[in-house]
Amino acid sequence: MIRRLLLLSMLATAPILVASAATPDRAIGYRQDVFGLVGWNFGALGDMVREKRAWDAAEFTRRAERVAQLSQMTDEGFPPGSDKGATTDAKAEIWTNRADFDAKMDDFRREAAALASAAKGGDQAAIKAQFAKTGGTCKACHDEYKAD
Ligand code: HEC
Repeated sequence: MIRRLLLLSMLATAPILVASAATPDRAIGYRQDVFGLVGWNFGALGDMVREKRAWDAAEFTRRAERVAQLSQMTDEGFPPGSDKGATTDAKAEIWTNRADFDAKMDDFRREAAALASAAKGGDQAAIKAQFAKTGGTCKACHDEYKAD
């Protein structure tokens, strides 16, 4: 009886354990999802900065805050061993040059947080300057660590 109960409780938790296992493919999917969201929101900010669409201060702030939050979620998408697996644009140098990669991630976090603060401040010139600075941190990392 106890055996059966044990087995049942193991069966009940098994799907949860499977779902949370950080296999390389899941980590790759995770980071691509997070960066996909970053790109979605940052792209909308860029459209406002480049005046491709009307400035909407409330929306700008909301999206800048999203990017700042997402920037806190990216690093766990690069565990050891996730350099190979599902199709990924992450270069192997991330794992051989980790301190530099992490520093570039910190730059992104810092500037994204500053962009969210600037957005709340409402000074459009300051916001645009900080947008460019934040975009520079994307490029600095992609140039070194992202294929194509
Ligand atoms: C510290 C490094 C780093 C920073 C900073 C960074 N990225 Fe990336 N980004 C990557 C890597 C590595 C990949 C490739 C992930 C993969 O394919 O496994 C990626 C992928 C992407 C993708 C493609 C996601 C997909 O669908 O596969 C987008 C879009 C993107 N980044 C946008 C941005 C934007 C916008 C910023 C800045 C606001 C940014 N990234 C900052 C490293 C970075």
